[in-house]
Amino acid sequence: ASTLRVSEALSATEFGEHVKVRGWVRSVRPQKANLFLHVNDGSSLQSLQVFADAQLNDSLLTFGSAVEVTGVLKKSPHHKQSVELEADKIHVVGKCNPLDFPFKIKERHGLEYIRQFPHLRCRTNAFSSLLRIRSEATAAIHSYFKENGFVHIHTPIITSNDCEGAGELFQVEPSWPKTEEQENFFSVPAFLTVSGQLHLEVMSGAFSRVYTFGPTFRAENSQSRRHLAEFYMVEAELSFTQSIEDLTQVMEDMFRSATEHVLAHCAEDVDLFHKHVTPGHRGTLDSMMKKKFPMITYSEAIDILNHSTQKFVFPTNWGCDLQTEHEKYLVKHCGNIPVFVTDYPYDLKPFYARDNQDRPRHTAAAVDLLVPGVGELCGGSLREERLDLLSARLEKVGLEDTYSWYLDLRRFGSVPHGGFGLGFERFLQCILGVDNIKDVIPFARFSHSCVL
Ligand code: 4AD
Ligand code: MG
Repeated sequence: ASTLRVSEALSATEFGEHVKVRGWVRSVRPQKANLFLHVNDGSSLQSLQVFADAQLNDSLLTFGSAVEVTGVLKKSPHHKQSVELEADKIHVVGKCNPLDFPFKIKERHGLEYIRQFPHLRCRTNAFSSLLRIRSEATAAIHSYFKENGFVHIHTPIITSNDCEGAGELFQVEPSWPKTEEQENFFSVPAFLTVSGQLHLEVMSGAFSRVYTFGPTFRAENSQSRRHLAEFYMVEAELSFTQSIEDLTQVMEDMFRSATEHVLAHCAEDVDLFHKHVTPGHRGTLDSMMKKKFPMITYSEAIDILNHSTQKFVFPTNWGCDLQTEHEKYLVKHCGNIPVFVTDYPYDLKPFYARDNQDRPRHTAAAVDLLVPGVGELCGGSLREERLDLLSARLEKVGLEDTYSWYLDLRRFGSVPHGGFGLGFERFLQCILGVDNIKDVIPFARFSHSCVL
């Protein structure tokens, strides 16, 4: 018998073939004469219905056990499913005691409950759907960049610089005890990267359009619903930019193209979420996809916040950083769709942000994309490509030696350029309506938690 994946068996159009299917039992229904099983192998949300003589039942055949079923594929008389497998042999490969197994048959466990079992939650429908969507969204983002002429760069995980200058770095050291002459493995302090931007800037100076999509690390102490210590970031860098719109165009296009791809290729999985896990979110997503994302300046945002009747925990004067509560208010104010906020106070932005040279309100050509339910999804900016302005700013903070290589990029064929980073987990939260970021990553790392 040839071995089929459940998804292949479900889409079969020719029947009568003798096949083998392997997977995990999602339901067992013994009747007097017959036995019904549902077997799932992760290839799709759907499980394959197995029909057998009651004599094939076995006390080890329980919810969660692993099985290998051999039989004949038949057209199903049931309207819910077009195919079923009439089994002549059922072999329990791995048993599963249903009393000890944390998930119960026919129960819909909430995301918070299943989060307690990071090693088992992929066995639930909700989390396996999420992971298939995540995998498809990853592919969608790569195809977007490929189709638009970007070169994929593997930026390093270990680096000696702090791109964001926020001091939220994890230091990298060997685990073995150091002798005096081996005091420092890399001879300089080395860290896990917080962003691949600076390395992308190097590459944009040769390839014009580059991107990276990999893990990034931040030692943030916050126990929030949108921060992780290890998260995936999509970063793009473009040369020969004319204005901030060159960036917002790509941000919006990528968002739409990845979302459409997921809706088209993971419809069943997305439906499961929108129907049972985050009911009511589909409408929000549909309206996000209908309208062009509006754009406001930071100064306009502050005006909106100052005129609001809502009381904020953090004050909203010009120069303050936008907090999650402010971001969420702005999104609501703009019709609960994604909104770009541009031209932030110069002093709020890292050394690389391009100076707008405006006065008296001194701003940088930076942009954030704020989205419903999450707040900040993307952060980007035009980069300071003018040698004199950049070296003056680096000198001011005593970093001109550390970044002499970065200044070189402005010495040898410097061009106006810019880029952005999108938090991939926040993107998934946004399209699926998931409240907690820990529920959209296979294995979550955050302060006081690094299990498995
Ligand atoms: O706004 P950030 O800090 O921007 C940068 O790192 C730029 N260097 C990117 C660039 O221009 N190439 O981070 C970008 C995005 C944020 O908007 C947010 O969505 C996400 O990364 N992010 C996090 N996601 C999860 N957990 C965290 N701790 C995150 N910190 C940032
Ligand atoms: Mg940011």
